[in-house]
Amino acid sequence: MNPTGRFITAVLGGFAIAVALLCVTVNFKKLHFSSYIPFDRFMLQKMSEKPLELLCLVLTQRSHFDQQDAIMFTWGAGCTDLLFIVGNVGISDSYQLIERKPHVYTLTVKVEDTYNNTWQKLRAALHFVNSTWPKKFDWLMRIDDDAFVIFENLYDFLMAKDPRTPAMFGAHYNHYAGGYIGTGPGIIMSRAAFTDLMSVFDQKKYCRTTLRTHDDDVELGVCLKAVKVPFGDSSDSKGRPRFIPISLHDLLNDPQAPNHGFFKQESAYPVGEGFDCCADELIALHYVKAEEMRHFQRIVSAHPLAQKNLRLLVNQTAITRLRPNAANS
Ligand SMILES: *[C@@H]1O[C@H](CO)[C@@H](O)[C@H](O)[C@H]1NC(C)=O
Ligand SMILES: *[C@@H]1O[C@H](CO)[C@@H](O)[C@H](O)[C@H]1NC(C)=O
Ligand SMILES: *[C@@H]1O[C@H](CO)[C@@H](O)[C@H](O)[C@H]1NC(C)=O
Repeated sequence: MNPTGRFITAVLGGFAIAVALLCVTVNFKKLHFSSYIPFDRFMLQKMSEKPLELLCLVLTQRSHFDQQDAIMFTWGAGCTDLLFIVGNVGISDSYQLIERKPHVYTLTVKVEDTYNNTWQKLRAALHFVNSTWPKKFDWLMRIDDDAFVIFENLYDFLMAKDPRTPAMFGAHYNHYAGGYIGTGPGIIMSRAAFTDLMSVFDQKKYCRTTLRTHDDDVELGVCLKAVKVPFGDSSDSKGRPRFIPISLHDLLNDPQAPNHGFFKQESAYPVGEGFDCCADELIALHYVKAEEMRHFQRIVSAHPLAQKNLRLLVNQTAITRLRPNAANS
């Protein structure tokens, strides 16, 4: 739920056609990227000694190969299991689960895959997890296919929390719809929160079960709040947000952008100027293209012992549109 959403609705049709035309190229390019190793050895060792049980649900579309590929071979490799969720009313069963490689799946749900239907798509995916997914998990993250996660920071953040306590984390919006975790850079819930959610998920009194809408984050928030799942604190010791729902360009270069204003006004955590916008233990960014994900992951892996903050990502990047104004840097 943000201003960009409205705009995207308008351009999505054209985009879908463009993507269809590009499919052959994308498939070809895929061969070049897919070998990327995402984590440095310190992180790999940490993860193997103390695994984080995290189930990742990426809402995507069948044609978004490049975004899926980038996630799979960058931050997504940190998820215990990674499910790419697509909709298709043409499948015979309610769900179709296809393994793409170990721990990575495409979950097709029998739901119309239109932009205005992500709430039903998410509902179907969560039903699948509750009824059919065989493995236990401590944390569940619903996230967009254009989000980049600094997995090291997410790992440290969640490892310090108890999954048996109901809580939700992410970009916490304060006012609109009475407060919710905004979609995009990830909505994370503890296992306890998921269990509570599922106890009322099909009850119209608590959840809008049949609504067709793109605001799946708002609707999920309605259900979670109905079972009194509290907002966990997703800010750092200085109160700055760890989950950034707007693009880096809007955040660092364009204070006049509608998204910038919306974020500043709605964020439960104050958004400061320049690099003070964000927690040093930054967890997730939104509106990140596949090539930027690979670039960011390379930086993160190449600086194993550095603080993995926005300054590191932006300072090391040749993507000029991401550079902040001189005054802010
Ligand atoms: C949702 O999108 C579909 C196809 O894009 C359209 O036919 C339908 O009218 C839309 N529904 C609403 C409620 O906007
Ligand atoms: C989720 O699973 C639990 C345990 O099997 C069940 O009691 C609950 O009704 C399920 N919820 C939904 C929404 O299917
Ligand atoms: C930013 O890059 C410059 C030049 O590469 C380097 O000297 C500086 O230490 C970097 N700063 C940070 C915070 O990484």
